[in-house]
Amino acid sequence: MQPFAMNHWYLLLVFIKLLILLTPVHPDHLANKCSDGRPNYTLDSTFDTNLHNLISTLSENGPTYGFYNSSTGESPNRVHGLVLCRGDITTSACQSCLVPAVQEVIELCPNRREAIIWYPECFIRYSDREFFGIVDINSSVLIFRADQNISQMDDRGVNFRPLMYELVEKTTVASLMYAVESESFGMLGTRYGLMQCTRDLRRDDCRKCLEGLMKDFETSVVGERGWRILGASCNIRYEDYKFYEEGLGIESPSQGGTKNVLKVALIASLSSFIGLVIMGFCIYYWRYWRKRPHTPQKDMKREPKQDSKSNEIGMQTSTSVSVANMQKGDQQKTQDFPSIDFYTLQAATNKFSIENKLGEGGFGPVYKVMEF
Ligand SMILES: *[C@@H]1O[C@H](CO)[C@@H](O)[C@H](O)[C@H]1NC(C)=O
Ligand SMILES: *[C@@H]1O[C@H](CO)[C@@H](O)[C@H](O)[C@H]1NC(C)=O
Ligand SMILES: *[C@@H]1O[C@H](CO)[C@@H](O)[C@H](O)[C@H]1NC(C)=O
Ligand SMILES: *[C@@H]1O[C@H](CO)[C@@H](O)[C@H](O)[C@H]1NC(C)=O
Repeated sequence: MQPFAMNHWYLLLVFIKLLILLTPVHPDHLANKCSDGRPNYTLDSTFDTNLHNLISTLSENGPTYGFYNSSTGESPNRVHGLVLCRGDITTSACQSCLVPAVQEVIELCPNRREAIIWYPECFIRYSDREFFGIVDINSSVLIFRADQNISQMDDRGVNFRPLMYELVEKTTVASLMYAVESESFGMLGTRYGLMQCTRDLRRDDCRKCLEGLMKDFETSVVGERGWRILGASCNIRYEDYKFYEEGLGIESPSQGGTKNVLKVALIASLSSFIGLVIMGFCIYYWRYWRKRPHTPQKDMKREPKQDSKSNEIGMQTSTSVSVANMQKGDQQKTQDFPSIDFYTLQAATNKFSIENKLGEGGFGPVYKVMEF
């Protein structure tokens, strides 16, 4: 009974994961800045069309690299935009942030020719003015963590400056201009910092941006345990707990970030293709089989065990592995494809009992067979 229970739990988990992936959730934005005092664009204008095109390009390409910048249209309706995901998140987490976020840009800054929106895990900016490669430290926002009880959590005993200024250096030389750092303050605990620049900047401009923001706000954050400086060209976060992941994230484009995405897509489409082929075979044999009498043959492969530890990608792989195993089995016996009569199957699966059902494959329900 144990393996059944395990399989059911595994399937439930996979199902929940899929639901989470498919449910569009609007992540809460941290802050936004819409252009004020500048003429608005009108609905269905050329600018509107260009902006929508730009936004879909950004949300399509952003997750692959964790950063993307692009421009669309001709002046005066040309629009420039970029997206950036936090350096430690995966391609799929980046996508989960960007896809709803680009929709929300239009809701949060309706008809504006310029907008900047910050989310916990991604960042979007567009403008009718060309801004790529230009450091902007004016459009910044300082936010404190909401759950701080000031009298109880006063943190003046901790000097965050060495940690944060070292992080400026580290970020400037990091391959993706993203870095994290922590420092232990003994009895007072450990403090954690994160910095990231948009990748349209040159390295020395990244430094200018981070140093500029630190200088502007360092007196305001003294004694605080959690704060973020949201900038238009770079951003900074500081907390008294570890809020980032290490050794994760999107690899730099030259190191095969795209290759991984391609691999997943390939495995996914390959397994559905193989599923279709097998389904075709099954239908063919079933029809062929109905037409002529036959003798039952005892030749069936056991369902390969599902790996309960596999993750989302592992899930795809295990499907394709099980299909591949079945194919191998078929190749050895191409002449006599294993045909099992209905009654044998019915008995083996305990009348197709729900207990024995492992799940739905791309080619129908899959049952576990205990004995043949
Ligand atoms: C632009 O539109 C927004 C909302 O639609 C409005 O609040 C704002 O005043 C407008 N700005 C100008 C300059 O017309
Ligand atoms: C930022 O503000 C300064 C002074 O207010 C101004 O000279 C500079 O052009 C502004 N930079 C940007 C990118 O808007
Ligand atoms: C903050 O801490 C003080 C001292 O411990 C306490 O009296 C106060 O109720 C706390 N405030 C909140 C909002 O938790
Ligand atoms: C992205 O920004 C850089 C400047 O940093 C620029 O050279 C490049 O052309 C931009 N890419 C696109 C697609 O506009």
